[in-house]
Amino acid sequence: MTAAPDMGRMHSLEVFRHYDKNHWRLFTLPLAEVERALVKPEYVTLVKSAVMGESNVIAAVHGFLNEFAEDYDFSAFAVIWGYQEVQHHYAFTSWLQAVGEEVDNRAVAAMRAPYDPGSTPSATLATNIISELTVNHVYRAVSAWVEEPVLKDLLLRASRDEAGHAREFRHFAAKRLEEHPEEVASVLETLYFYTSDDKIKHPVGVFKAGLDELAETETIDTGFELFLDTVADSGELDELQNKIRRTFGSLTGHDLSSNRAVRRALATVLG
Ligand SMILES: [Fe+2]
Ligand SMILES: [Fe+2]
Repeated sequence: MTAAPDMGRMHSLEVFRHYDKNHWRLFTLPLAEVERALVKPEYVTLVKSAVMGESNVIAAVHGFLNEFAEDYDFSAFAVIWGYQEVQHHYAFTSWLQAVGEEVDNRAVAAMRAPYDPGSTPSATLATNIISELTVNHVYRAVSAWVEEPVLKDLLLRASRDEAGHAREFRHFAAKRLEEHPEEVASVLETLYFYTSDDKIKHPVGVFKAGLDELAETETIDTGFELFLDTVADSGELDELQNKIRRTFGSLTGHDLSSNRAVRRALATVLG
């Protein structure tokens, strides 16, 4: 059972106030000013991949509400967060429409089924910290690379939102671990699973791989492969994985600065 939040201390209320005051609106994106002559085919592929990634929001919110049925504060956050992810989904879709491209709604519909719970609630929150840090990093790098100004702007807006999301998931993960320190091993296992290869592994790619509806379309992994081949500087993946390890290091209080350190911390925790 999760303890009730202290009187007057709903974190989701602070998040709501912050978003209500600062968040951008879709109608302010100048879609009529898209410079079609600057659009490269890679941009379309990347944005279609982003749409597929963002469209997982519904599955994620559904999973969160199931898994955190005891936790009002986090559930309220999940709904607020979900609105922003729907906004990303539809903002990227709107940019595609502005350049005469269509989204495959059959593939989007295939993203609907809820996520299963993680091995622990802390592991679920940890997984989401990783996905937010990853898209934050990728959107920022792609924004710097893209020349079409409306897409550049949209990617930067979305990138900033993802950084905020990573912070909030970290907040809820820290709170959960404070109340359930026995879940720390599941957090370290999650970190190891996602950061021990030399490619970008994202939960959406991991959990939604192999759906028949996706055989013919871009997926989030198409976007990551194109990103690493075409956009990323050498050392970019290391930079991202190091950022993820640092975040988890401060979250758990363990030295997680390399894969070896992660394995050692896991051995300590499990031993
Ligand atoms: Fe997003
Ligand atoms: Fe996000």
